[in-house]
Amino acid sequence: MTQFDVAYVRSQFPALKRTIDGRPAAYLDGPGGTQTPRRVLDAVRDYLVDHNANCHGRFVTSEETDATIAEAHRAGADFLGCEPAEVSFGANMTTLTYFLAEALGRLLQPGDEVVVTALDHEANRGPWLQLAERGVVVREVPVDLATCRLDWKAFEMLVQPGLTKVVALGYASNAVGTVNDVARAAGLARAAGAWSVVDAVHYAPHGPIDVRAVGCDFLLCSAYKFFGPHVGLMFARREATAQLEPLRLRTQEQQAPFIWETGTLNFEGLAGTTAAIDFIADLGVRHVMMVEDRLPAGLKGRRRAVVAGMLAGEVYEQPLAKWLREQLAGIPGVTLYGPPEGSPRTSTVSFTLDGFLAGEAARALGARGLFVWDGDFYAARLVELLGLAKRGGLIRVGLAPYTTQGELERLVTAVGDLSRSVR
Ligand SMILES: Cc1ncc(COP(=O)(O)O)c(C=O)c1O
Repeated sequence: MTQFDVAYVRSQFPALKRTIDGRPAAYLDGPGGTQTPRRVLDAVRDYLVDHNANCHGRFVTSEETDATIAEAHRAGADFLGCEPAEVSFGANMTTLTYFLAEALGRLLQPGDEVVVTALDHEANRGPWLQLAERGVVVREVPVDLATCRLDWKAFEMLVQPGLTKVVALGYASNAVGTVNDVARAAGLARAAGAWSVVDAVHYAPHGPIDVRAVGCDFLLCSAYKFFGPHVGLMFARREATAQLEPLRLRTQEQQAPFIWETGTLNFEGLAGTTAAIDFIADLGVRHVMMVEDRLPAGLKGRRRAVVAGMLAGEVYEQPLAKWLREQLAGIPGVTLYGPPEGSPRTSTVSFTLDGFLAGEAARALGARGLFVWDGDFYAARLVELLGLAKRGGLIRVGLAPYTTQGELERLVTAVGDLSRSVR
């Protein structure tokens, strides 16, 4: 395939058959959670029907469950570019981050500093902000509100050798799509002797992740944002885990990756997560010719296919997102938010429409079968700083590999109609 086969992709998602008042539903809500391909649905069902048991038993379904867990760690490693023992699973990214903050927080002394950003989702702020109760000082990297990019000069000044112990930032903003130079931030943290924690929840469905290239200690994401079930994943560098004492039971396995995995995991969710990663790999195998020149050398097997699949999705979505931004910019009353054209960004497009609270616009679009999000999407700090809280926040359109040009044309027409209705 030299062109992205969106018809094939769409054929894999049963949810896309849904209609709203005779119009096909357009799922432009991907940053809140993507739709699920058939192979993920089958994997979840197959696990629950044929292999359902607790782990570590001496009978066949339990042994199959152990195999399901091991395969999910291998798939997670192929997704993130690390060892299977460096991938741990949990309820979701937020819960894993609280556990991580608890484990790192135990090593901190009053007066130690943690750096967070004003661009981040609360899930990568709240767990660090609560360390202030133990006397930890939390510093915030500001955002340049005109471009929705981090202020890197301030970032460099805030990360202080000997003083800063944790640097926590997002790979990409789920509110406005800004992609941050996380390798640079991890480098700042390393040079200061601090741990680096990357929230890759919004980035994960939009580009290949290579935790070694990023050079971070921890990176977290959620499978439900990349076609999987509601499961959180955490990369924890082997050497980093070895230095920590996560909250855990004495009866659970005490080494990575299981040391982070308290209680019984969501086994059907793990089966589905593997299937989601295999789905991305399948896209990569089908579209490898499209992205061959961008594929890093030396990748093999499923890892190579996953990277190809993520790159192919980007090659497809980025021009569509650019087209959408251009069209929306021409509609009276629309203000777009996000970094300038040409700077790294995901295919997530956010805007406001004069005369409408974001929720009113989203409701009107939803009634036409156009599912978009409104609000702050828990990136509350940014939306407050942008002064948009009183307008109900932003209207957010998320593109996914199953999004079509036709759906975006419908959206542009509908936003144009809303704009005309108040002018
Ligand atoms: C950027 C970002 N970080 C963190 C989260 C929280 O993820 P979870 O729902 O897995 O806790 C989200 C969810 O929307 C997100 O978009």
